[in-house]
Amino acid sequence: MSNELRVAVVGAGRMGFDHIKRIESDRIKGARVVAVVDINEEVAQRAVEGIEDVKIYTDFHKAIESKGVDAVLIATPGFLHAPVLMPAIEAGLPVLCEKPLTPDSASSWEIVQAEVEADKKLVQVGFMRRFDGGYRTIRAAVESGLSGELLQLECEHINPDVPESYTGRNLIDDTVVHEFDGVRFLTGEEIKTVRALHGKKSKYATGELQDPAKVIMETESGILVTVNTHVTSQYGYSVTTKAIFEDNHLSVGNDLVNSSFEPRFVDAYDQEVQAWVDAALKGEQTGPSAWDGYAAAACCEAGLAALESGEAVAVELNEKPDLYK
Ligand SMILES: NC(=O)c1ccc[n+]([C@@H]2O[C@H](COP(=O)([O-])OP(=O)(O)OC[C@H]3O[C@@H](n4cnc5c(N)ncnc54)[C@H](O)[C@@H]3O)[C@@H](O)[C@H]2O)c1
Repeated sequence: MSNELRVAVVGAGRMGFDHIKRIESDRIKGARVVAVVDINEEVAQRAVEGIEDVKIYTDFHKAIESKGVDAVLIATPGFLHAPVLMPAIEAGLPVLCEKPLTPDSASSWEIVQAEVEADKKLVQVGFMRRFDGGYRTIRAAVESGLSGELLQLECEHINPDVPESYTGRNLIDDTVVHEFDGVRFLTGEEIKTVRALHGKKSKYATGELQDPAKVIMETESGILVTVNTHVTSQYGYSVTTKAIFEDNHLSVGNDLVNSSFEPRFVDAYDQEVQAWVDAALKGEQTGPSAWDGYAAAACCEAGLAALESGEAVAVELNEKPDLYK
């Protein structure tokens, strides 16, 4: 591979557009966008305005097969990730795949199996919170042990509003999915059980959506996690985490209320993409893996069952392949 990663971006909507501009900005070193794929050619055209030497495709196969592409960034809707991931893995291309890896654990397991068969980790999943400064501060405290054992996490995820089509399912697999991965990252443990509760509903929550809600998890060693979600708050976008250690409490994100996720996590997205580029240029994989994407999908399934039953539901995971140990 050359010393510059030639990236094909598949899906040039909200996230794809943002990532294209990021890679083309001077914030990211060592990569450039050489191909943009979108079934809507106008969307692709708009995304490449001002970028030189970039090809536009409406069929992702053509971009993946192109000799001039070293890596693929997937930013299509989640149910369209697997059809792009599979040929990219087969072609041995490093991939940054926006979350979710795929919409369910069975299809995510197929991605894990494809990497195991190739005997190479190629996929980084777009769980950008692992690159957020606040998250990293908590993780460093867990690793150092200087504040004693981590006992509890209190997380809050507030959105100003959500599309009318947003349902209880999306609350789990679009919003809390970030906390599932965040909790696994912060604690270094798998999540054992998930419970979901909702009480009085906001007048801004339409249809079947129950908002606000509370998701409660327990990890392997018994760390208790509560996630308060309020996705129709009307007031702003805010993600906060309080870590309760034996000897200290650590709160992050409290001073950051934004209009949406892009400004709140701009640094984290930059770090995420730079880490991907750096690793890909060395022929390595870093950050959240296909296994992490699979585990998050399994947590979402437990969360959905918990939302329906009101009971604590166990997270079911296959045995972790050696490739990810
Ligand atoms: N990490 C985060 O914080 C974050 C935030 C928002 C969205 N996301 C994820 O990013 C992904 C994209 O979300 P979005 O909000 O940008 O969606 P979007 O609808 O704005 O964009 C998706 C784009 O994919 C294109 N597309 C659809 N089918 C295609 C195909 N077969 N081939 C090529 N292009 C195709 C659409 O035309 C559209 O332009 C989703 O997986 C979403 O969950 C992540």
